Parts: sequence; structure tokens; C-alpha cells
Amino acid sequence: MWYLGGSVFRARKTHTSTGEVGVLEQRGHWGSRIGFVLAAAGSAIGLGNIWKFPYITGVNGGGAFVMIYLVCIALVGLPVMAAEILLGRSSQSSPVGAMKKLAGPRSAWVSIGWLGVAGSFILLSYYSIVAGWALNYAWLSLTGRLVGLGPEGVEPLFGEVFSSSATNLVSHAVFMALTVAVVLGGVSKGVERWARILMPTLMAMLVALLINSFTLDGFPQALSFVFGIHTESLTAGGVLEALGHSFFTLSLGMGAMITYGSYLRKDDDIVAASITISLLDTLVALTASMVLFPIIFSYGMQPSAGPGLVFISIPIALSQMTGGMLLSILFFLLLVFAALTSSISMLEVVAAYFIDERQWTRNRATLVTGGVIALVGIPSALSGSTALFGADFAAIFGKNWFDTLDYLVSNWVLPLGGLGVAVFTAWRMDEALRHDHFLSGCRMRFFYKSWLWLLKFLVPVAIVFVFLHAIGVI
Ligand code: PFF
Repeated sequence: MWYLGGSVFRARKTHTSTGEVGVLEQRGHWGSRIGFVLAAAGSAIGLGNIWKFPYITGVNGGGAFVMIYLVCIALVGLPVMAAEILLGRSSQSSPVGAMKKLAGPRSAWVSIGWLGVAGSFILLSYYSIVAGWALNYAWLSLTGRLVGLGPEGVEPLFGEVFSSSATNLVSHAVFMALTVAVVLGGVSKGVERWARILMPTLMAMLVALLINSFTLDGFPQALSFVFGIHTESLTAGGVLEALGHSFFTLSLGMGAMITYGSYLRKDDDIVAASITISLLDTLVALTASMVLFPIIFSYGMQPSAGPGLVFISIPIALSQMTGGMLLSILFFLLLVFAALTSSISMLEVVAAYFIDERQWTRNRATLVTGGVIALVGIPSALSGSTALFGADFAAIFGKNWFDTLDYLVSNWVLPLGGLGVAVFTAWRMDEALRHDHFLSGCRMRFFYKSWLWLLKFLVPVAIVFVFLHAIGVI
């Protein structure tokens, strides 16, 4: 079969400076196995781990929620991740092309690919706004403006950051420019190179912050909050939130892992890579919680502060702590690096579509798609400051522009994409191709049957529950 060969070359019409057409170009590939794992872990580890996971853990009462989340990662997230990487590697194409090759050019399954491209496009347009807040806070920390503010100073400060059009637009533009700059470099010289720099730096910063948290009075209380089993605070809604978050945090259902998988060679171990990426992602989410909650408890604040946990409660505590300036520089830079390695993967999905399917050059694809996403992000940047995208929009649609996009992506696009990937891989994909690609390079061959069973039955049922919850049936 043509696709089993895993050929890394494809003919592409390219225009040279002299106007010649027809040069054979090599499709981008990872320089090394570890490079792929770092880039994919970089996609997974993001605002979802350091901002969202701790606050939803806080809101859902801690321990029992964390246990359910771990089960969701292992039984639902991990199998879907392996399936996505497999779809990418076996087709050597980004999501739309992958589904065309694997299901047929006119097949309805191609819509899974489209959903991924559209989802990544929309997610990046507003993810960049939250990343911009982190950038802003990193700047405020570096310039010493967070020192000694206390609660009376920090709360209005966040209000200012959140509701200033100019600040939000500038940070959004800077963050998008950083993302575009990395993706312009290509797969191994851009995405992989930056993952190799940013991921170890991020881990080192996290360890430094964790060491600081060990020394705080609130550490034992945080430990029991995050790891103690308090089933009384767990609700059905909490269980489904854990499930939904396992998709978001592992970057599933958006074509990101299909795209990154498409730059793999045939002898790489998909199962080992998926386990490593999921473990790293989980480790970072748990460590971030053990960085944040000791600070929260030591300063007598509430763990259930919601989205403001990182942008209000933490700066309040850090602004009163000895060495708080250094800690807040470390923390907010960590947040920016984590967001950047994730945003890179979203832009790569969109750019790869134009490179693979429309034969655009990488420069053109990255600059045009990055520019358009930055423009589409403007209403999100203005959701906290203008009535048009804030209050007026909410009066009609129930939520402001930013929250509406987040609701659509988190509750519908990601689970739908994950469902499509699971059902296609388990029920519709060519069996020999699936078997061959799962096993090639694989050291844990015995997982094949259980993986397939999870994709066939457990994953679809679990996702249907997420939908039923989203429409209010359960
Ligand atoms: N996994 C990222 C996070 O936890 O912040 C978010 C994300 C990135 C979701 C890329 C989806 C995606 F395609």
C-alpha cells in the first residue's frame, strides 16, 4: 500500500527565485525522538495545566476530583492521543489531508480534519489573550510593580489589565508575534528547537517554585487538599469537567497530535511516546497545584477562587512574601513559556493545512494564518472592555464573546473531534494499517487489544456523557 511506506518525500510545486516550478521538497520531520516528545509535551503543557487545572481542582474541592481526572487521562485521554499520533504518522499528513488519505477524499470523515483546523484557529484567537495577561504580569513583575501591593492593590490591577483595550491588544499582538516567529522556523528548526529550550527551562522553574512551596506553612494543608480523598465535594458535573479537561490538557480533538504525529518516522514508538507525554502533562499539572495551593493556604486565601486564582490570589500572596518579586517573575514567565509551546502547536495545525493541502510556502502560510488569527482575536481582547463584545454581546448570547468561544471549543469542538478520532480509528480505519502502525517500533505490543477496546467502547460512551451534560440532560 502506498501509505505504508511512510515516505517522507512528496513532490510539491515550488517557485524558485528564477520562477522555475517543480522542485522536490522534503516535508518537515522531527530531528529526534526526544524532540518530538518535548514538542508534543510542550503542546499539552500549557495554560490548561498551570492556570486551569489548579483552579478547577480548587472549585471541585480537591482530592477526589484529582483521582477522577487521573482515571480520565489514563482511560480516555491516553488512548485518543495514541490514535491521533497514529493517524498522523500513518498518513504523513496534517489533519485534513490525513483524513482524505485514510478515509477517501470525499468521505464525511474528512470533517474531523476540518474541525481540527477550525478549532485550533478559534482556540488560538482567544488563548493568546490569557497568554497576554501572563505576559503582562511577567512584565509587571520584572519592573517591580507587583511588590508590596497587597489585596487593595492587586485586585484593581487585574481589573485594569482585564478591562484595558490597549493593554490587551498590545499583549495579544506581542504573544501572536512570538508564536509566528517560532512557527516560521519550521518543524525541526522552529518548533522542535524552541521546545528543546523552553521545556527544560519550564521544568527547572517549576522545581524551583516547588522547593519554595515546601518551606511554607501551608504545604501540609495543600498536600491533603490535592491528594486526600474528599468525596463529599465531588459532583457529577465535576466528573464531567475532569473528563472534558483531560481532552483540553492533552491537546486532543484539535488535530494537534495528528499534525505532530505526521512529522514522525515509522520506527518511532507511538505507545511509549503517548505515555511519556501524558505523564509529563499530569506531573506538571500536579506540581503546579503543589506550587500554588501552599501559597494560597499560607496566606489564608480560598482555594476556590476560580479563574482569578492565578491572576489575583497568587499575586496578592506573592506581593507580601519575602523574595516575592523573584518568585512572581519565575511564575509568570513559566506561564508564558507554557502558553507559547501550546500556541505554537495550534498555529502549526492551521499553517500545515495550507502548506500540505494548498502548497503554500511555510513563510506565507505562517504569516497569513498568524495574521488572520491575530485579527480574529481582537473581539476576545475587547471582551472585558467594550460593551459590543462584552455586556451587549452577553445580553443576546448569554456570555461575552470570549466566554462564548471558550464554551464552544471546550464543550463541543474538542469532545467532538476526540469522538471522531476514536470512532474512525476503532471502527472504520483499515485494520491492517492500524495494526501495522500501532506495532511498528512498539515495545508494549500487549496494549493493542485493550487500546482498541477503549477506543471502541469506553471513549465514545464517556464523550456522549460530556455532550449530555453540555445540553443539560444530566
Ligand atoms: N493543552 C493546552 C493546555 O493545556 O493549555 C491547550 C491546547 C493546545 C489545546 C493545543 C488544544 C490544542 F490543540
